[in-house]
Amino acid sequence: MSKNIFSVAIDGPSGAGKSTLAKAVAAKLDILYVDTGAIYRTIGCYVKEKGVHPRDNEAVIALLPEIHIEMRYAEDGLQHMILNGKDVTTEIRQNEISQYASDVSAIPEVRTFLLEMQRQFARENSVIMDGRDIGTVVLPDAEVKVFLTAPLAERARRRFVELEQRGTPRAYEDVLREMEQRDYNDSHRAAAPLRQAEDAVLLDTGELNFAESLAALLSIIRKKVGE
Ligand code: DC
Repeated sequence: MSKNIFSVAIDGPSGAGKSTLAKAVAAKLDILYVDTGAIYRTIGCYVKEKGVHPRDNEAVIALLPEIHIEMRYAEDGLQHMILNGKDVTTEIRQNEISQYASDVSAIPEVRTFLLEMQRQFARENSVIMDGRDIGTVVLPDAEVKVFLTAPLAERARRRFVELEQRGTPRAYEDVLREMEQRDYNDSHRAAAPLRQAEDAVLLDTGELNFAESLAALLSIIRKKVGE
């Protein structure tokens, strides 16, 4: 290892395999996995609970002072999201929270509200952090930046299979349409849109299985930080 603390930034559209791969890398390199989408989902969860429309910027911003978010790592290594003292780790995975998270994440004040919390983790720990703006905004000095992607149809297929395995099946067409909508929202918003950082390595996992994707990702990281 060439440095004591280092950061790996993984950005990309939903369903590209960011979280599954980042989790595996974290276990392999014994570093912390930070899922930043979970933080936006937690805000989305509160907004929904309060009956506020997630695109009503003023109403969402007015809720921010009431929101206290903590991220805790359980013995199992899992990232738990605590919203005003309550564990919402499972709740934030509900399908409709995805759209809430995408909507609230387009509000600049929401992004600013969460920025320092994300940076703090990377200052104190070696991390692999995934999201949409990690390499471009949150950790512009990350030692390793990867833009992980795959064609839309393949990402939708993976999400479709995942939902089926979780016992909450949805029609493939619906999954595809929602993913396309979220891709559009996340990459066309004015505040920190999803885009590849200039110094990020592009990894397309469309034709790769999990083991191949993991090997490719580890190889990119090792080249940069010598882990
Ligand atoms: O990664 P995810 O699908 O759990 O993220 C949920 C939403 O949060 C996603 O649609 C966009 C937003 N997000 C973001 O804007 N910036 C991040 N760093 C992570 C997620």
